[in-house]
Formats: sequence, C-alpha cells, structure tokens
Amino acid sequence: MLCLRQILVVVLLGMIAMLSGCRLDMHVQPRVNPLAKSDFFPDQRGARPLVEGTVARGDLRADTYFYSGKIGSNPGDYMPFPVTKEVLERGRERFNIYCAPCHSALGDGNGFIPSRGFSIKPPSYHTARLQKAPLGHFYDVISNGFGIMSDYSAQIAPRDRWNIVAYIRALQLSQNATKADVPSGQNIPSEPPKFLGEPGSGATLPVIAPSNSGSEEQR
Ligand code: HEC
Repeated sequence: MLCLRQILVVVLLGMIAMLSGCRLDMHVQPRVNPLAKSDFFPDQRGARPLVEGTVARGDLRADTYFYSGKIGSNPGDYMPFPVTKEVLERGRERFNIYCAPCHSALGDGNGFIPSRGFSIKPPSYHTARLQKAPLGHFYDVISNGFGIMSDYSAQIAPRDRWNIVAYIRALQLSQNATKADVPSGQNIPSEPPKFLGEPGSGATLPVIAPSNSGSEEQR
C-alpha cells in the first residue's frame, strides 16, 4: 500500500507537470524587442516613428517661447518664469558644471579648457555686445550651439537652460555694478573673512570667525 508520503510526491509531481504546461505561453509573448526586426511592418522596423499629427502626453510644448527663446524668428528678452533665489542658485550650479570649464566661473572666457589650448577662446560675457544681447540669445546658444561651441540641448533641459540664462545675466550685472547698486550699510570690497586658527589645508575647511556686528558700519 502507498504511504501518505508517496501520495504527496505523486500529487506534487502532477502539479509541477500541469504548471509547466502553461510555461511556454507566458514566456513567448507577442511583442517586439527594442529595435528588433519586425515582419509586421512594410519597412521591417520594430521601432516606430511617432504617428503624424500626434503629441506624446506631457510633451505638447505649446509655450513656444519657453522652448525656443524666440518670438517669431527673433530672440526675446524676458524670462518665461519669475526669477527667484532658487532659480539663480540652480542656474549657478548648472553654469559651473557645464559652462565654467570654458567660460570661467566669472564668465570672462578664461576657463580652464581655453587655458590648455582650446582653439578659440570663448568671448567674455562682459563685452558691450553680449551685455546687450537679449536673454533669448543665450537660450538659443545653449540649445543650438554657436560657432565652434556645440549645443547642450541633450545635457540641459529647457527649464535649466533658462536658469543658466538668468544666472549669466546676474554675472553680467555683478561685473558692472557701481557703489549705488550696493544696499546701504554694506561696503565694497567686502571685508575678507577672519579665520579661527589655521585657514584650512585644502583637505580641511577653514572655520570663519563670527563677525562682530556693526563693525562694517563704522569704517
Ligand atoms: C568646450 C568649451 C565651451 C563650453 C563648455 C561652453 N562654451 Fe560657450 N562658447 C565656447 C566658444 C569657443 C565660444 C565661441 C564660439 C565661436 O565664436 O565660434 C562660445 C560662445 C558662447 C557664447 C557667445 C555667443 C555670441 O553671441 O558670441 C555664449 C553666450 C555661450 N558660449 C554660452 C555658453 C553657455 C551658457 C554654456 C554652458 C551651458 C557654454 N557656453 C559652454 C566654448 C564653450
């Protein structure tokens, strides 16, 4: 007579046999692997272009100024969204990553790459021509490149391009500020910070001594 254990083994084997019957259907799915050949379409390409006249969800780009920096075919001179401290901080961060290696952190064109023999030195942003250039021009240069400078459309999303544009304008203002632009109660050049102990070795950060308030006003 079969003992309980043997019955269990037989039942289990039966279940495995039944389940493995479904296996093939689930594994061979009627789909095309990315970029694979397909016999279904006349051009035999599995990857299909967008259907003409359709727009992918969330990709309408109805705000043409935001995506081109242009009004008609001319560059516009306004920001498509309000400039806040966060916008400028993000712009500075992106600028220092993508632009400063050539244009320098100041935007004067003396970046590290030109210092090592890049064929054309980038122009300074602080020339009269670029100071007057509309904001849309900077957006266009980032999106489409300029002369030998390649475009950054793949690396920098539209909103970040505008953030950088706002920061470039701030850089331009910073290099041409007069005493009248400085809020009252502050001096230029500002007092260098005083350090507690040794001013950092490079591996350690310097500790800045707290300034005694009011000392700026007396000078
Ligand atoms: C690899 C070096 C390099 C990087 C990185 C770079 N640029 Fe340039 N840029 C150049 C050079 C070189 C020129 C001059 C091109 C020419 O005249 O052919 C230039 C020109 C420009 C100009 C001047 C256009 C004009 O009207 O004269 C602007 C504005 C500019 N770049 C913005 C940017 C911004 C913004 C970034 C970062 C997103 C950036 N560049 C990144 C090298 C660079």
